[in-house]
Amino acid sequence: MAKKELRMHAVVAPTETVIVSAYDAEGRADACTLAFYMVSSHVPPCVTIAINATQNRKTLKSMLESGAFVLGLPSVDQVKETDYLGVESGYRADKLKNVGFTVSPAKTVHAPLINELKLSLECEIVHTVTVGSHTQVTGEVKRILADEEILDEKGRVLLKKLQPIIYDEEEGIYLDLGKKVADAFRTGAAFKKKLEERKQESPSD
Ligand SMILES: Cc1cc2nc3c(=O)[nH]c(=O)nc-3n(C[C@H](O)[C@H](O)[C@H](O)COP(=O)(O)O)c2cc1C
Repeated sequence: MAKKELRMHAVVAPTETVIVSAYDAEGRADACTLAFYMVSSHVPPCVTIAINATQNRKTLKSMLESGAFVLGLPSVDQVKETDYLGVESGYRADKLKNVGFTVSPAKTVHAPLINELKLSLECEIVHTVTVGSHTQVTGEVKRILADEEILDEKGRVLLKKLQPIIYDEEEGIYLDLGKKVADAFRTGAAFKKKLEERKQESPSD
């Protein structure tokens, strides 16, 4: 297959769309939509988000001042609200009120938790670094709150019930999760085992 060089950009598609919320210095809650999000540590549990520091993002200012944020996962039936939170600024509008979202104070950090989101991570900021246009903010997860309806009997989050919104930056569209294609780790482990067995049968290969 012929290959083509692309214009310079960080190909990020697809990513789970998240909503981060923070209190400003006056205690007003604001939130914005982000696609630049990753799990960055298991122990302690941490997530890292990247927010454009060259633009006037109110949420970034608020979270750096307060030292905390809540990261919430919207579901596909909240796509209109999610997109709006990503095209309007808290400097110009009371966005949360406009979409009909309500907030409660997080229990472990000074940040607002959006009640309508089915999964929320309360995060304390433990590290920031600016690389290029974006400030990467790492939050240590201090508490996780989930609607019971998205959990299985073991308390695990079932993504097929949460139905997160997947953002495709290439085409500028939102997608749903799609179907399972294989078991993680087991598929590669089975392949690895087969290769090792083959090597034992004919070591010269
Ligand atoms: C799907 C989507 C993904 C976005 N991802 C990011 C992101 O990862 N980083 C960022 O800085 N802005 C991102 N934005 C833009 C911000 O959400 C937007 O600038 C917002 O208006 C900022 O609001 P604020 O000023 O209230 O913080 C995204 C917007 C959308 C719609």
